[in-house]
Amino acid sequence: MRDRSPVYYDSYDGSWNLFLYEDVARALSEHQTFSSQLNEAAEMPLSQSLIQLDPPRHTRLRALVSKPFSPAWIGKRADKIREICTSLLESVKSDQFDFVRNFSYPLPVMVIADIIGIPRDHMERFKEWSDAVVTGQAFMGQRDYMSEMVTYFSEMVRERQRDPRDDLISMLISSEVDGKPLSPQELMGFLILLLIAGNETTTNLISNAVYSMNENPGTYDMVVSDRSLIPGMLEETLRYRSPVQSMFRRTKADVTVRGVTIPANSYVTAWIGSANHDERVFEEPEKFNIERKENRHIAFGNGIHYCLGAPLARLEAKIAFEEITERFREIRVGNIDSASMVSSTIVYGFKSLPVS
Ligand code: HEM
Repeated sequence: MRDRSPVYYDSYDGSWNLFLYEDVARALSEHQTFSSQLNEAAEMPLSQSLIQLDPPRHTRLRALVSKPFSPAWIGKRADKIREICTSLLESVKSDQFDFVRNFSYPLPVMVIADIIGIPRDHMERFKEWSDAVVTGQAFMGQRDYMSEMVTYFSEMVRERQRDPRDDLISMLISSEVDGKPLSPQELMGFLILLLIAGNETTTNLISNAVYSMNENPGTYDMVVSDRSLIPGMLEETLRYRSPVQSMFRRTKADVTVRGVTIPANSYVTAWIGSANHDERVFEEPEKFNIERKENRHIAFGNGIHYCLGAPLARLEAKIAFEEITERFREIRVGNIDSASMVSSTIVYGFKSLPVS
């Protein structure tokens, strides 16, 4: 597609698709033309969350949460994250186990639950909700997932209003934007977004790294013998198997990309996964090279919506591999079939990953 149809109109769903790095980076960052506000009717909680807002509202809300997600603040959680990694790895009793179920899935859920201030033992429920959103079930199935999430978080908010603690829910409740507290919809939208954005994505980064190293013999050994290679290995995984493959925008006006005019009010899919394999930008893009020198991947997006959780995801994954390489001299992936993959065109990763 990059060579033949870099700007592709899909007549099936009426969307426009961008595949080249330069165009994807532009669509993600040029918010004046490519809006993140996908729906006019904004009654859904997620449509009131950062990821679906344009400036000026986006700028103000983002300012409110940038501090608790800054590298400095997130860095203070390192010990807690290491403790969680250790306890998960210690609870693995057999030489063969499902890496996703036993490690890469529970880790981010437990970390984000602590930050937000929700009990860890509600994890199974979060998993169901986050899966439902990622696979689209939450918006079309019989079950009303959105109402379930709203009811759950409303109760949490009421609890913290009565009894504030040192957590993100309490901080958000007491914050003001433009002299006013966040509306219940904004509060719900943000909490639901964090729960979903932070879970599946980080799980997939960690499992995709294991899978990619297994596919490229020798890379895991390199990381075991030199742990300073872990960050570069993770950046290469983010590029090579991007956990978020696509993001959406809506054009605010007619816009021309490579001589093709995309009409105003069109849905645009920016294919991050393709951009990160663009041979115009990356040398030997199909090679998984953990020592890649210039890795300008856009796996965390680009511009004002650049992933708020990137410092957290990077820290969690780094600590995870420090602990994994400490315990396992080698790690082999067992049989994988299509059913093991997450079924989604947005997120890329594994539902299960048998390892030994
Ligand atoms: C935004 C990817 C982890 C919270 C984004 C965007 C991408 C992304 C591509 C840009 C969306 C856009 O331009 O429309 C990832 C990947 C992750 C990850 C690959 C893990 C490897 C996290 C974590 C959190 C998080 C751990 C929170 C704890 C968010 C939020 C936004 C966002 C709140 C919206 C920011 C805004 O609109 O200003 N993420 N994410 N993400 N991410 Fe992440």
